[in-house]
Amino acid sequence: MTGKKMIQIAIDGPAASGKSTAARALAERLGGYYVNTGDMYRTVAWAALQAGIDPDADPAAVVAKLPAWDLRLQAEEGVLQLILNDVPVPQAAIRAPEVAAVVSQVARIPEVRDWMLDRQRDCRHLGIIIMEGRDIGTVVLPDATCKFFITASPEERARRRLQQAGEVTPGATLASVAADIAERDRIDSTRAVAP
Ligand code: DC
Repeated sequence: MTGKKMIQIAIDGPAASGKSTAARALAERLGGYYVNTGDMYRTVAWAALQAGIDPDADPAAVVAKLPAWDLRLQAEEGVLQLILNDVPVPQAAIRAPEVAAVVSQVARIPEVRDWMLDRQRDCRHLGIIIMEGRDIGTVVLPDATCKFFITASPEERARRRLQQAGEVTPGATLASVAADIAERDRIDSTRAVAP
């Protein structure tokens, strides 16, 4: 008998709405693990770019690569580290503007979403988990203990994103960032699977 507390908290919402900030703070308060599923999609987008694939033009090439990618969440001193083919995934790489530009195209591929499910659910055994994304309460953890949806106005989200160093191209303005966010929202919310 382990007596380990099993609590799943789902936090969904659009880009730059404050999900990560809330999820991270909650994980700290509850002594749980914070799981950022957007980073998992970003990792696949990054790996696709590294393999010379344009996910928008050739989604089938991304799907063909999936068996070659071993993506795992590894618990290290209270935090989860994303591991791709035995190598820790560098945050700076997956938050780069080139990755942000194609991640929505990757996240709308049904086979990628399906492949992701087991990898996201794998961390449930850890006990208390706070998972953020777009489809956590609806698809990934439908039986979550608590489900939250967080959003903010497009202007506020653009302002937040602009403050996140490394995530926008040099010279970006509030208007250009707001336009990028609106385009990603459009792709994320109109896709066929888990919009
Ligand atoms: O949260 P984020 O901006 O880092 O997410 C990156 C992309 O991944 C974004 O296009 C939405 C997508 N995503 C998704 O489709 N489902 C999730 N559970 C998490 C992210």
